[in-house]
Amino acid sequence: MIDRIFQGEEDTEDKTFTLRPKTFSEFIGQTSVKDNMSVFIKAAKSRKEPLDHVLLSGPPGLGKTTFATIIAQEMNANLKTTSAPSIERSGDMASLLSSLKPRDILFIDEIHRLRPVIEEVLYPALEDFRLDINIGLKGQAKAVRIALPPFTLIGATTKAGSLTQPLISRFGITHRFDFYTHQELILITNRNTAMLEMNMDKAGVEELSKRSRGTPRILNRLLRRVRDFAQVQNQKIISPSLIDYALTKMNIDALGLDDMDRKILNIVINHFNGGPVGIENLATSLSEDTATIEDIYEPYLIQLGFIKRTRQGRVATSHAFKYLGIKAPHPDNKQEQSLFDNNTS
Ligand SMILES: Nc1ncnc2c1ncn2[C@@H]1O[C@H](COP(=O)(O)OP(=O)(O)OP(=O)(O)O)[C@@H](O)[C@H]1O
Ligand SMILES: [Mg+2]
Repeated sequence: MIDRIFQGEEDTEDKTFTLRPKTFSEFIGQTSVKDNMSVFIKAAKSRKEPLDHVLLSGPPGLGKTTFATIIAQEMNANLKTTSAPSIERSGDMASLLSSLKPRDILFIDEIHRLRPVIEEVLYPALEDFRLDINIGLKGQAKAVRIALPPFTLIGATTKAGSLTQPLISRFGITHRFDFYTHQELILITNRNTAMLEMNMDKAGVEELSKRSRGTPRILNRLLRRVRDFAQVQNQKIISPSLIDYALTKMNIDALGLDDMDRKILNIVINHFNGGPVGIENLATSLSEDTATIEDIYEPYLIQLGFIKRTRQGRVATSHAFKYLGIKAPHPDNKQEQSLFDNNTS
């Protein structure tokens, strides 16, 4: 169940119908970046130049891929999509780059996972539209310089902190996506219920938006599941009580937290006395890898103010104790406070 909520695109469930916005006006929220992007796109188009390289970062499901697709559309550019783990050798990167046509957009997902040797092939390509490669056998290899057509790279990452400085500095436009506000989620719910021809009352829209972890992808998934429950129960108007029934069946609580979130809080509080606990220890206790915890689960718990990252490790806040119905051991919060003063995040 946890996997089903987070992974993949919600659109893979129904190939015939997509909720993915196709234009900036359909793309809800992120107003200032949309406005700026429209200016950069207009300017690049009138100069007949490619757009500067763009780096999009932030937690999964907030619209990075969607945004990249819209940029390509607005630029009337051809979009080539790949993901860093699939580029295994520097030769793969070289052939990918040399296959580009003028003003193409190359989208590299999970760009923080590029290997250093492959990243080095990218540097001159990004800066001077140039490919420096070695041809021939070892010992007799000759350095060859190939001119590339002007293109745009759009990189997406859930882990901007893992990108190297030389790579980051080659992006002219960077944007970090953050969780959506309640008001923005309400707008997305209204748009998508209309598209799915669902009749949801106002309180229902509020409820679903509240429980979607600030994440459009999760919102869309929950929306489709609630639609299933409504259909089977033959309910024409979707009310908060039906949403509560459906989400409770899926073990999603009033805050949108699921089994994994509760497990994380339980471990930090009950096994490690509220922390601090290092990410590796936490990962071992959960039988998960550290990246999944850091990129997928933790950001929303941090956003809710339940977990804090400190220099010594993760600490559960008094809100997290309260949520689990456990009395916080330091009611005056002195220890917690001193840890947060050293906060590294
Ligand atoms: N601003 C938005 N307005 C409306 N719907 C959105 C918005 N952003 C994302 N969505 C919806 O959420 C879905 C997930 O978005 P997307 O795949 O672009 O996320 P992502 O940031 O690329 O995630 P990942 O890091 O997992 O690749 C989209 O298919 C789309 O339907
Ligand atoms: Mg994506």
